[in-house]
Amino acid sequence: MREECFVVKENSRVADSTFRLILEGDASGFGRPGQFVNIAIDGFFLRRPISVARVYENKLCLYYKIVGGGTLRLSELNGGEELNVLLPLGNGFDLEKTASRDILLVGGGVGIPPMMGCYEEALKRGIRPKVVMGFNKSSEVFGTDEFEKIAAEYGVEPDIHIATMDGSLGTKGTVIDVIKNSSSKIEGLYIFACGPRGMLKALSQLPSNGQYSLEERMACGFGACMGCTCSTRNGGKRVCKDGPVFLKEEIIW
Ligand SMILES: Cc1cc2nc3c(=O)[nH]c(=O)nc-3n(C[C@H](O)[C@H](O)[C@H](O)COP(=O)(O)OP(=O)(O)OC[C@H]3O[C@@H](n4cnc5c(N)ncnc54)[C@H](O)[C@@H]3O)c2cc1C
Ligand code: FES
Repeated sequence: MREECFVVKENSRVADSTFRLILEGDASGFGRPGQFVNIAIDGFFLRRPISVARVYENKLCLYYKIVGGGTLRLSELNGGEELNVLLPLGNGFDLEKTASRDILLVGGGVGIPPMMGCYEEALKRGIRPKVVMGFNKSSEVFGTDEFEKIAAEYGVEPDIHIATMDGSLGTKGTVIDVIKNSSSKIEGLYIFACGPRGMLKALSQLPSNGQYSLEERMACGFGACMGCTCSTRNGGKRVCKDGPVFLKEEIIW
């Protein structure tokens, strides 16, 4: 874990209250999708944890939603401004833990960015995952362009499905409705997922193994303060250091 200075290259609105932030700097050291950075924001005591969507060359691609003062301040940053960032943090998704080639990537809202890195990692291994994304409404939808870009880089057709709660785009309902309505069988699927806890809990009831990324309020972000500890079947774990990704069977809902 180290502290680096990054320069804002892009900070653009991609959907309702949702922004893509491209940072340039020393982005080395990330080993797995689903890892995150902890960003210092002027005027805020605690850093804000944000998942890494993609790492390319000397750039990090992040997506964030404005939910409070810190993310609002982030949205006001202009190109050329500098940010102090702690990285690389967290364990990330481990694609080596499954031999299944039947992979489903499920993201809800700002849980979608880590799925972009998973998608890229799977394509690198010759696996073509199905992607299911859930939102409240069409104006919140983002990320399809990024998945399409990654698919194009690997010369494959993306298999992307969208669910919106109000039915304004894609399937009306949740990601679970998309999965249950799909013709492919659920048994034998391996699921990588990130999103609201309710979505993860509902997914965990499907007869499929997988890895889920959990969210907890964080302080240090690197395992020192124990502020983000959660109970698992293997005892207390720090979400920032032992997670945020856990095997489905470890999680106590
Ligand atoms: C590992 C991890 C990865 C994340 N990745 C993303 C991402 O890719 N995109 C994105 O939009 N959001 C992500 N979040 C949530 C994001 O950290 C919070 O939305 C953000 O910190 C809110 O800050 P705020 O000042 O705008 O809100 P406030 O509510 O004012 O924040 C107050 C305090 O609560 C903490 N906090 C608030 N909401 C959350 C939350 N949901 N999870 C953890 N801490 C929270 C803040 O860090 C801050 O310390 C992630 C959280 C974690 C733990
Ligand atoms: S936030 Fe300090 S140990 Fe996780």
